[in-house]
Amino acid sequence: MVIKQWLHTVASWGYTSVRTSAMAPQLAERFSSLGFHSAQDLSLLRLSHSAPDLIALAPDIAPRVMRTGPLSQRLRPARLNSILELDAAAFSTEWHMDRANLTDALAATHRRRIFVSRRNNALEGFVLVGSTGQHGFVQRLAVHPDARRSGVASRLLAASLNWAIGHGCTDTVVNTEITNEPAQSLYKSFGFIDMHYGLTVMEREL
Ligand SMILES: CC(C)(COP(=O)(O)OP(=O)(O)OC[C@H]1O[C@@H](n2cnc3c(N)ncnc32)[C@H](O)[C@@H]1OP(=O)(O)O)[C@@H](O)C(=O)NCCC(=O)NCCS
Repeated sequence: MVIKQWLHTVASWGYTSVRTSAMAPQLAERFSSLGFHSAQDLSLLRLSHSAPDLIALAPDIAPRVMRTGPLSQRLRPARLNSILELDAAAFSTEWHMDRANLTDALAATHRRRIFVSRRNNALEGFVLVGSTGQHGFVQRLAVHPDARRSGVASRLLAASLNWAIGHGCTDTVVNTEITNEPAQSLYKSFGFIDMHYGLTVMEREL
């Protein structure tokens, strides 16, 4: 009932379609019965840190920490823009993050850290990793198209996993599109394995 009212309100504002955040199967089914369809299917991958060995990273090429401000959630405008620009270059227009998405992602976990990789002072990749309790989450990972296949993502992911292990996480989880072969292959090369269910972004025309 609440959702139907909400759809009515959103339509009255002039929107022609709505999209949800990524949701677990049971909830996605409920939305499906309200006329929503799947817009993106994501697999959930998990890496256990039961034998937590830190991954060695050569200091000269190791990703750096991007400071996120006093409340650990705020980014200075120039840093925020550089992250958003890189994200837009890495993901298709439909799926790249805006300021609100990034703010939500920063706030989604109890702790968070952004690692960046630069070459000649230009940002070539970033990762946002967070943790809540004993669980680590790779929230976002992106490498500029011009910097790919040279190990940037591998180093960013290694820095994230080391951070998660250092914060006492017993596992790290990531979601990525089922059809995203580069990302699937990257995570699996680090030992991530598929969990028994995925997430779905649902969409409905109004
Ligand atoms: C996925 C992504 C982060 C990989 O970045 P990258 O810096 O090129 O990755 P690396 O060079 O560290 O590659 C590490 C491994 O990932 C896999 N991989 C990376 N790109 C690949 C591709 N195009 N096809 C198949 N496997 C690929 C390979 O296993 C690779 O190891 P190898 O080079 O020894 O074969 C990058 O393609 C990207 O930003 N894509 C768009 C955003 C995205 O999908 N983010 C992840 C979503 S959670």
